[in-house]
Amino acid sequence: MTNDFLWGGAISAAQTEGNKDKVKKQLSNFDILPMDSRRLQLVYKDDSNNIFNTYNKDHHPSEHGIDFYNTYEDDIDLMHELGINSFRFSISWTRLFPTGEEESPDKEGMKFYQEIVKRLRNYGMEPVVTLSHFEIPINLIKKYGGWSNRKVINLYIRYATAVMKEFASSVKYWIPFNEMNMILHIPFIGGGLIFDRNENILQREYQAAHYQLVANALTVEIGKKINPKFQFGCMLAAGRTYPYTPKPEDVWAANLNDRNALLFSDVQVRGNYPTYFEYLCKTNKFQLDITNDDLKVLNDNTVDFVSFSYYSSACSAAESDGLERIATNGYQTLKNPYLSNETSVWQNDPIGLRITLNQLYERYEKPVFIVENGIGTTKDELVSGQVHDSYRIEYLRNHFEELNKARKEDGIPVIGYLMWGVIDLVSVSEGKMSKRYGVVYVDLDDKEQGSNKRYKKDSFYWYHDYIQQQLVGGRENG
Ligand code: BG6
Repeated sequence: MTNDFLWGGAISAAQTEGNKDKVKKQLSNFDILPMDSRRLQLVYKDDSNNIFNTYNKDHHPSEHGIDFYNTYEDDIDLMHELGINSFRFSISWTRLFPTGEEESPDKEGMKFYQEIVKRLRNYGMEPVVTLSHFEIPINLIKKYGGWSNRKVINLYIRYATAVMKEFASSVKYWIPFNEMNMILHIPFIGGGLIFDRNENILQREYQAAHYQLVANALTVEIGKKINPKFQFGCMLAAGRTYPYTPKPEDVWAANLNDRNALLFSDVQVRGNYPTYFEYLCKTNKFQLDITNDDLKVLNDNTVDFVSFSYYSSACSAAESDGLERIATNGYQTLKNPYLSNETSVWQNDPIGLRITLNQLYERYEKPVFIVENGIGTTKDELVSGQVHDSYRIEYLRNHFEELNKARKEDGIPVIGYLMWGVIDLVSVSEGKMSKRYGVVYVDLDDKEQGSNKRYKKDSFYWYHDYIQQQLVGGRENG
C-alpha cells in the first residue's frame, strides 16, 4: 500500500454553512426542508401542507447549519490538527448563482470557496469538491420544475464551468452530483421535484435523472478541456443488497434493489444505459426525452473513478409482508437479523463495506473512492468538554479492517476514505443535530441552540493516531 492514500473528512454546504448573515445566497431546495417527517416525503403541488406553503411557520435547521460560513477557518485548522490529508466539501450553487440564472458568479461567494481551497492547500490537504450536494436554487424549482426540465442542464453547466475555471489549478477531484440514485427515494432533495396527483412518479424521476446524467457528462467534457488532469467521479449511495434468504426469488429481489443504485453509475462509468432500461421504461409506462445527442455525450464523457457513500448494506425479499423494516440511507429496507443497530441509527455492517468495494470494482474496474462513511448516532454526550464515543472508535476500527482487507487481499485500488460528517452537522433524513457523525462535537441542539463551540471527541484522537500510523508508519492492518 502506498502512502498517497487520501485519509479525510467530508461535509456538505447545505448541512453546515448556514445563512445567518443573510448574505446574497438565496434559498435552495435543502434550505426549505423543515425539521419533521416531510423532509423525505414526496412534495405535491396541491398539498396545502407542503413545505412551500408552510415555509413561514417551519423551523429550517439549514439556516444556521453549524455556521461553517463563519467558522471555516477554525474548522479547517481542526482538520489539520486531526492529521487528515484530504477534505471533501460542496459548493452551494445559490451562493454563487442565487437564482441559478445569473450570467456570472457572485464574487463574494466565490471568495469564500477560494479561501477554503487556499487554506486546505496551505495545510497540504487535497480538496475533493462536490458541485451539487442535494442543492438546486428554489427559483429553478418554481420556474422550471427543478431537474425535470432540460433547461436546467445549461444553467447547471454555467455554474459548474465557472467553478471549474476558478479552481483549474487548485482542485483535482470533482464530484458533479452527490448520490444521484437518491432521486428515486427522495426526489425533492435529489432533484427539486414536485408532483401532480396521479402523475407517473417514476417517469419524472428518471427524466430528471437523465438530465442530471447529461449534465454530469457535459461537466466532464468541459472540465477535461479546462484541465485534462481533472479527475471526475460518479457518486452513488451504495451498500450491497443481500437476499433475505437463499431462496432464488429473494436473490433476484436483492438484484433488483441494487439496480436502483447501479443504473446511474452504469451510465456514468460505462457511458450507456444498461440493457434492461428500455424494458423498465416500458413496464412502467413511460417514455423519456432522450436524444441521440444526449446518448453521444454520455458515451463520450465517462467518469474516472467510482465514488460512493457506504453506511450499511440493505436486505430484500420477494415476499416482505410481515418482515421487520428499518431505515437506511434514504429509504426503508428489511431488517437483517444478523446486523445490529444498537449504537447507530442505521444497521452496522463493516463486512458490507468490503463486499460493496468488491461489487463496485468487479463491475467497473475503475479506482474506487469511499467519499462518505461513518456512524450516525444519538449516543454522543458532551460532559465537561469531553465526549467518550467508544462505539465510534469501534465502528471505525471495524470498517478500516475491512477496507484494508479489500485493498490487500482483494487488490482493490481505493483512492481514499473520507469520513462523513467529520464535524457534526445537520442530518439530511432527520434535520437534527442530535444524529451525530463527527469526531468533532458541535455544541448545538436540535433547535440549533447552544454555544456552537467545537470539542474533540475521543474518536478524534483515535482517528488522528490511526491516520498517522497509516501515513507515516505504513501500518498494514487496522
Ligand atoms: C448521505 C448524504 O446520503 O448520507 C449526506 O450524502 C448525509 O448528505 C448522509 O448526511 C447521512 O445521512 P443522514 O440522513 O444521517 O444525514
